Amino acid sequence: MRTRITQLFNIKYPIIQGGMHYVGFAELASSVSNAGGLGIITGLTLKTPDDLSKEIQRCQEMTDKPFGVNLTFLPTVTAPDYPGYIKAIIDNGIKIVETAGRNPQPYLPALKDAGIKVIHKCTSVRHALKAQKIGCDAVSVDGFECGGHPGEDDIPNMILLPRAAEQLEIPFVASGGMVDARSLVASLALGADGINMGTRFIATQEAPVHENVKQAILSATETDTRLVMRPLRNTERVLYNEAARKLLDKEERLGNALRFEDIIEEVAGVYPRVMQEGEVDSGVWSCGMVAGLIRDIPTCRELIDRIMTDAETLIRKRLTGILD
Ligand SMILES: Cc1cc2nc3c(=O)[nH]c(=O)nc-3n(C[C@H](O)[C@H](O)[C@H](O)COP(=O)(O)O)c2cc1C
Repeated sequence: MRTRITQLFNIKYPIIQGGMHYVGFAELASSVSNAGGLGIITGLTLKTPDDLSKEIQRCQEMTDKPFGVNLTFLPTVTAPDYPGYIKAIIDNGIKIVETAGRNPQPYLPALKDAGIKVIHKCTSVRHALKAQKIGCDAVSVDGFECGGHPGEDDIPNMILLPRAAEQLEIPFVASGGMVDARSLVASLALGADGINMGTRFIATQEAPVHENVKQAILSATETDTRLVMRPLRNTERVLYNEAARKLLDKEERLGNALRFEDIIEEVAGVYPRVMQEGEVDSGVWSCGMVAGLIRDIPTCRELIDRIMTDAETLIRKRLTGILD
């Protein structure tokens, strides 16, 4: 399958593994890339630029295929050492960066001068257009269904993707709710050039997270996620667990008076405990509605091969068959 995304990133299949905090390590990124997709290391999970360099080098030992690094621009007061992370990315020869969160404009010149292709993840058409205008090479359009931060507009992909297709000139991938061949073929029909998956890739053999996390995703249905932190305009879709219950209780009690300090116990520093120790109720963690469609823990290769084989059958048999 050839699309503008496979051509842009020089990959076999139009399937990207989105950056995921404490999930997107070299094991997962290299497995996705080895299977023909695009794996992504999550930059900020590595505590220092030097740690990121080592992780990139570890990944380079595991694959000779292209992989990328995610840089999430957080709305925090004390910013991480972004110039340091960018230097690590450039010095180690990375050619693809997925940016997310705030506007990446201040950092684009450094990335572009190094010949790096930038795909910016955003949750609205206006942000996608802005990304196009400032020189991003592609965008990842994250619908309301997505695990993580869906933004504040609440537009599901059935509307968001065709809207993006109407307006964008650069290639884009559909993100949020993507899980199988049906999602891929539907996204292509809606105008996208491929898909980006988060939650689905956590439930794979190679995802270096605790088995409890994978089982929690398998057990969850499509009604088992919640939006938290909306009063802070930092909305996140998370698995509905004990911590989410407590957090939503606080949101209800405090209303608009809610401050980040009020929920620090449920959100701050929970990822290592959840992903590495398997304490899945110890805090809130991102999870997409798509958990309701995840029923197994394949290898990345099995997953990607299945998507591509089923997509071909879907296009050649079911869709063409409807016309015959
Ligand atoms: C556990 C988890 C952690 C995530 N961490 C990040 C992150 O650090 N940076 C980022 O840009 N996106 C992050 N995301 C979002 C994913 O890259 C992707 O956009 C999203 O999961 C797509 O929706 P899906 O889960 O329905 O596939 C995270 C998602 C999950 C599930």
